[in-house]
Amino acid sequence: MSAGAIDEVTRRISAATGGRRMRRLRQGDWTRRLVRETQLSVNDLIWPIFVREGAGAAEPVPSMPGVDRLSIEGCVEAARQAADLGIPVIALFPYTSAEDRDEQGSRALDPNNLVCSAVRAMKKAVPEVGILCDVALDPYTSHGHDGIVRDGRIVNDETVEILSRQAVVQAQAGCDIIGPSDMMDGRVACIRAALDEAGLPDTMIMSYAAKYASAFYGPFRDAVGSTGALKGDKRSYQMDFGNSQEALREARQDIAEGADMIMIKPGLPYLDILSRVARELDLPTFAYQTSGEYSMIMAAAERGFIDPDAAMMETLSAYKRAGAAGILSYFSPRAAATLRRG
Ligand code: PBG
Repeated sequence: MSAGAIDEVTRRISAATGGRRMRRLRQGDWTRRLVRETQLSVNDLIWPIFVREGAGAAEPVPSMPGVDRLSIEGCVEAARQAADLGIPVIALFPYTSAEDRDEQGSRALDPNNLVCSAVRAMKKAVPEVGILCDVALDPYTSHGHDGIVRDGRIVNDETVEILSRQAVVQAQAGCDIIGPSDMMDGRVACIRAALDEAGLPDTMIMSYAAKYASAFYGPFRDAVGSTGALKGDKRSYQMDFGNSQEALREARQDIAEGADMIMIKPGLPYLDILSRVARELDLPTFAYQTSGEYSMIMAAAERGFIDPDAAMMETLSAYKRAGAAGILSYFSPRAAATLRRG
C-alpha cells in the first residue's frame, strides 16, 4: 500500500467527517469514564432472595446457578450483606411446599407465615435495609395462580379483596414496599386504601405495572416451588408480549391509582417498553431482570460461552440506559462487589 493511497483516504475522511473523529474520546480508560453517559451505582440495585422453612445451610436452586434458598437466619445474613455492600432493598420470596398451599391461598393471610416471619427477623436485625414483598397468591395456591379460581377463571374482585389483606399483613410485619405482581385490575387503589385504613400511610407501593406473560419466569417458579403446581398459564392476567400501547395504559392506570413506583417485567426483551414508560410517564420506573435472564447468562457462562461478570455489568447498565431508576437483579450482590472494586 502506498503512502499516497493512505493520504487519499485521510483526505476523504476529513472531507466526510469535517474533522470529527469519534474514536478520540474512546482512546483511553479515563476518557471513556469521563464521557460515559450512564453510570450504574449500588443504589440502583434491588436484590431478590428466596426464603425457605427450617434452619441450616443455604440450599442451591438448581435452575439458578449461584442462587440459594435461605433459612430465616440466612435471610438476616443476606440483609447484613446488603447493608455492608450498600444495596438499598431486598425483595423477599417464599419457597413453599404442597402443604402450605390450598385453593384459596389461605397462608397468604397468616401473619406468621414464612415471609412475615423473615421480614420481622430482618427488620429487627438490620432495620436500615428496605424490604419489598410481592403481593400475589401464587406461592400459596394449590393451582399456582396469582388469584382465586372459579369455574376455571381467575376472579378479579374477590382476589383483590384478599390481596389487599395480604398487603396489610405484610406491611404490619415490617415490609416497607408492597409489590403487587398479580396483574388484577384495580388492585393498586384497593391496596392503597387498605394500607391507609390500617394506619400504614408510609408503606410504599411498587406496582408491577406492565408484567408480561413470559417464558423468562421459569427458573423462578422452580425456586419458589410452583412449577409443578401451576395449572395452565397466566395469560388472562399477565400481558401479551405483542403489546406496547397497553403497557402505557397499565402504567398510567397504576399511577392514577396511587402507585409510588412502577416496574416493567421482564427486563431485557422489553427494553423498548421500559424506555417508553420511563420517558413518557413521571414516576420512578424499575426493571426486573428476571430469573430466566439471569439463568441464561449463568448457563452460558458455565459452558464457557460468555464472561458472566462482563454480561452482568453490560445488561445492568442497559436497563439504566433505557431509563430505569433501578433494577431488581439476582446479580445484585455480585454487581455491588464489582462496583466497589471499581
Ligand atoms: C409471582 C412472581 C413471578 C415473578 C415475580 N413474582 C412469577 C410469575 O408471575 O409466575 C418472576 C420473577 C422472576 O422470574 O425472576 N407473581
